[in-house]
Amino acid sequence: MTARDTDWDGVRLHVVTGKGGTGKTTVAAALALALAHSGRKVLLIETEGRQGIARLFDRPPLPYEERKIAIGPGEADDGRDPGGDVYALAIDPEGALLDYLELFYNMRSAGRALRRLGLVDFATTIAPGLSDVLVTGKATESTRRKQRGDGYVYDSVVLDAPPTGRVGRFLNVSAAVSGLAKVGPIRAHADTVARVIKSPQTAVHFVTTLEEMPVQETLDGIAELRRIAGIQVGGIMINMARPAVLSQQELKAPPEASTLAKALAAAGLHGTDVLAAALCDELAEHARHVELQDRERTELEAAGQPIYLLPMIADGIDLAALHRLAAELRDQGAA
Ligand SMILES: Nc1ncnc2c1ncn2[C@@H]1O[C@H](COP(=O)(O)OP(=O)(O)OP(=O)(O)O)[C@@H](O)[C@H]1O
Ligand SMILES: [Mg+2]
Repeated sequence: MTARDTDWDGVRLHVVTGKGGTGKTTVAAALALALAHSGRKVLLIETEGRQGIARLFDRPPLPYEERKIAIGPGEADDGRDPGGDVYALAIDPEGALLDYLELFYNMRSAGRALRRLGLVDFATTIAPGLSDVLVTGKATESTRRKQRGDGYVYDSVVLDAPPTGRVGRFLNVSAAVSGLAKVGPIRAHADTVARVIKSPQTAVHFVTTLEEMPVQETLDGIAELRRIAGIQVGGIMINMARPAVLSQQELKAPPEASTLAKALAAAGLHGTDVLAAALCDELAEHARHVELQDRERTELEAAGQPIYLLPMIADGIDLAALHRLAAELRDQGAA
């Protein structure tokens, strides 16, 4: 097994959040793949009930059950590193409630009766704090789960979490249930969950693109989590980054339209004035875009968390693309 330092060596539960649509599910999957090296076993969990992971890995919808969905990359060319396994689980509050009743009270059949009476819906919709604690409860239970003998069942767990706007409430389980239960099993459960989430074993990573809104949400999210004692803010994963096609020099001093027109004419093109003007507009637009991206990146850097850069993959995300993103995360020390 290759021992190598990463930025998150003691972390076993990786929570991935970010503004909607910035690539949380994609990056969570890539991170799970990246962590599944050297025979390690990783569980990738989704919480929103939308079967994004199944779609991403081109699988039928996941049941409420841990299923192997991918094999991590082997590191050594000589085949001595077999890679690891990625398992996946789609959690929904109802499944989590039944699971909770089974796990702690051996009461799955009672759970079914409750469902028939409509009480499960009642419990999970009327008390969103309860449904959050059931979902985080399942994630922390799989993080803590031990094998017979010794060691953990999963070396790492990656949680595709709710977006930034909801993640504080989602993770601050003790506060979430404090209005529901001051004592008793739910309270005790919440406290167990909180002990994992607020330990050095857990880090919360933020996925963002280099645009104003996602960056602002990331900074707000980081500030919010820093106010919750014990929660460890993780890395910032800049997703869908576009490579700069021009140098700083070229961007600062773009060629004049007349120079461009001459060059285009020399290349044998017609209508070069119109073409040159259009190209100049493009250049100016690109320069504005690069400047904006640089500004957003500077703002992110000010947060003081490690930053990882994931490229925009032009052909869309398939398994090969996920492996490419995973390799980037490995190379940059995120996993
Ligand atoms: N690095 C990338 N390069 C190209 N396309 C990407 C990249 N990352 C994500 N995408 C695409 O962007 C879209 C949104 O990604 P994804 O579903 O992972 O975002 P999300 O944050 O989980 O969204 P939601 O908030 O809806 O859950 C998808 O179509 C995905 O394939
Ligand atoms: Mg998603």
